[in-house]
Amino acid sequence: MNITFITGANKSLGFETARRLISLGHTVLLGARDRERGLAAATELGARFVQIDVTDDASVAAAVADVEAHDGRIDTLINNAGVPGPAVPAEQLTAADASYVFETNVFSIVRVTTAFLPLLRKAQHPAVINVSSGMGSQALTHDPDRVESQFPMPLYTASKAAVTMLTTQYAKALTDIRVNAADPGFTATDFNGHRGTQTVTEGTDAIVTLATEHPDTGTGRFIDRFGPVNW
Ligand SMILES: NC(=O)c1ccc[n+]([C@@H]2O[C@H](COP(=O)([O-])OP(=O)(O)OC[C@H]3O[C@@H](n4cnc5c(N)ncnc54)[C@H](OP(=O)(O)O)[C@@H]3O)[C@@H](O)[C@H]2O)c1
Repeated sequence: MNITFITGANKSLGFETARRLISLGHTVLLGARDRERGLAAATELGARFVQIDVTDDASVAAAVADVEAHDGRIDTLINNAGVPGPAVPAEQLTAADASYVFETNVFSIVRVTTAFLPLLRKAQHPAVINVSSGMGSQALTHDPDRVESQFPMPLYTASKAAVTMLTTQYAKALTDIRVNAADPGFTATDFNGHRGTQTVTEGTDAIVTLATEHPDTGTGRFIDRFGPVNW
């Protein structure tokens, strides 16, 4: 039985990941910061709701205690929660904006991963999946044929570049845990006002691949639904 914990799973890519993994037989712990929306999503899918605000130390500690008491371990941690940051011209960006984006997208991955390590290490084949983005790729954001090169978003792109680097560095450092990153691709969700060109099912292909592949497949990789991403 694979126990998978997903942050930010009350809607969009996290919710679809939960739906697909449940249909594949995983026990899914559906993480969400809002109790009402998280419970409703978990009930709809047959998941167990775990309240977690990834930016809050106490909330993350309470989530770990909840999972330890109810489930005893997790096999897979999917760090999915993320924010695009304010949609303002670059001239108006503030350090507070940068703190907000990096706090949620980057620092929270450190907070949540560190907190869940003891429960991950109770699994036979522990895995961490970080939901990064092609928007954090130097290669894709400089390729005129790619949608990632069309939207300058200084804070979001920098945060996702950090997520990919965190992933490859954690993969080197945590040799007993598989740590990989997924690029969903441009997917229609609330994140982008549903302007994305993929469905949420397409957008979760890479995450589901990493969550279901053979434990020997490798660590420190960055993939999208078509294969390795040049980061
Ligand atoms: N959509 C795309 O095109 C795309 C492409 C590449 C990468 N991604 C990445 O994929 C991930 C999911 O994106 P999405 O499109 O599903 O975005 P979304 O529709 O905006 O959903 C984001 C989820 O993250 C949660 N979240 C945000 N801050 C949180 C916090 N502090 N604590 C706990 N949960 C929090 C949200 O909860 P609330 O409902 O409470 O706000 C929501 O459940 C993100 O990391 C994003 O960067 C998305």
